[in-house]
Amino acid sequence: MEFIEIRRPDDFHLHVRQGEPMAYWVRASARDFARALIMPNTIPPADSPERVEAYRAAILAAVREDPETAGFTPLMAFKIMPGMGAERVAGLKAAGCLAGKYYPAGATTNSSDGLSSPAAAREALLAMEELGLPLSIHAELPEYFVLDREKAFLPTIERLSRDYPKLRIVIEHLSCAESLEFLRSMPERVCATVTVHHLLYTMDETMGEGLNPHFFCKPCLKTPRDRQALQDAVLSGNPRIFFGSDSAPHALSKKEGPFSLGGPYAPGGVFSAPAALPLLAAFFEEGGMLSRLENFTSAFGAAFYGLPRNSGRLRLVKRDSRVPEEIAGALPMLAGRQLPFDVERKEGA
Ligand code: DOR
Ligand code: ZN
Repeated sequence: MEFIEIRRPDDFHLHVRQGEPMAYWVRASARDFARALIMPNTIPPADSPERVEAYRAAILAAVREDPETAGFTPLMAFKIMPGMGAERVAGLKAAGCLAGKYYPAGATTNSSDGLSSPAAAREALLAMEELGLPLSIHAELPEYFVLDREKAFLPTIERLSRDYPKLRIVIEHLSCAESLEFLRSMPERVCATVTVHHLLYTMDETMGEGLNPHFFCKPCLKTPRDRQALQDAVLSGNPRIFFGSDSAPHALSKKEGPFSLGGPYAPGGVFSAPAALPLLAAFFEEGGMLSRLENFTSAFGAAFYGLPRNSGRLRLVKRDSRVPEEIAGALPMLAGRQLPFDVERKEGA
């Protein structure tokens, strides 16, 4: 096998930030991915039609500067705020939002203004259910021990699914074996994304040798058992599990300090997008399931969100490629390292 050709992929969970580095960070995704669902945990949050439109326009301007990335489509998610009303949700849908994002208050980067419980957003959730807007969830309860936070959130999802029986739900960045068990017990309208870092790595990367902030994320990387469960589920070709990178660049200065007593400390986020596709190709190949890569990256997610599949194609060629050392002040995952596959866009794709 010298290469595998797939339909151009989607990334259904991406952070690209704001300001000057955004252009470089989003282009690192837009070279490989045809579309990405852009997360709304900006400052201020993407929680109104005006803010979402301005954010989308800034992203589009950035990708259009480079012919290699000009065809990229940002898909927008809005942040669900406490007390958000039905009219606002309808406006966000009219502005083209594809999903609303539930951040438990304090669970991750820029989420202190998030939700203390689903009750805090009852009207918005009812409106989303009515309008057919999927609910994207950061599923962690920050009050719990860090390794148990995702597991602790599962009963909340069960309740959400019961209270909003038509609502379609995505559990983002699944990280533990219990969540996979839980997913199997839920109706088909509950799906999940998996990142490349949770799929391939464990806490060993974060702290097995030295403390590595570039592998620190929320939910944090877990145990070999959890990783095995994720790998089995992804290789099984389950259509309810699709790719969302949760690629989340942070400036080196924030990741590496200096820190002072009392914080702030290194923020969570793995800038995985530049290495994602070569790593996924290697993973599916090693698992003897290369033919299932395309569904994971380019079909199941589009089906969940009711989008047409991308028309372009892309080749993953079996030759070494090198992850950039640095991109606009942030360190990509595996910076400077060799990967066993290289991404090649097909003519006209
Ligand atoms: O590690 C993470 N980083 N997890 C998230 O949920 C948010 C993200 C970010 O925005 O940095
Ligand atoms: Zn995220």
